[in-house]
Amino acid sequence: MMEYKELVQIAIAARENAYAPYSHFKVGAALLAKDGRVFTGCNIECASYSPSNCAERTALFKAVSEGVREFSALAVLGWKEGEKCTGFAAPCGVCRQMLYEFCGTDMPVIMAKNEDELKVMTLGELLPEGFGPANLLG
Ligand code: THU
Repeated sequence: MMEYKELVQIAIAARENAYAPYSHFKVGAALLAKDGRVFTGCNIECASYSPSNCAERTALFKAVSEGVREFSALAVLGWKEGEKCTGFAAPCGVCRQMLYEFCGTDMPVIMAKNEDELKVMTLGELLPEGFGPANLLG
């Protein structure tokens, strides 16, 4: 299994591609699939705001669209363009819900300020009592 540090480094690089001309808050994500592949994502904003997509969902959608549905870890980080990172960026509620669709509650979500300062929580801790596929599919 890839080291958390390496996944964070990949997320830092993915953040470079963030398109965030409105918030200037650039986010990067790296989603490790069970087959060892890593899917990266960044946030992509839109002049009409609401269609904007978060880094985590960009990574997840890239993976699922490539036929990959099993994941073992997610790294995410974000901070304002031209500034230093001072805090952890946790996945928004919409991303937590979308991750819940495909990832187990025990999947670690690695929130990072840099490759050495990490805060790790499971998806289940971030979204307790989630409503998911089991509720509809049994
Ligand atoms: N954003 C993400 O990409 N992921 C998060 O977990 C939190 C927020 C993005 C959305 C928007 O482009 C910008 O950060 C400011 O909210």
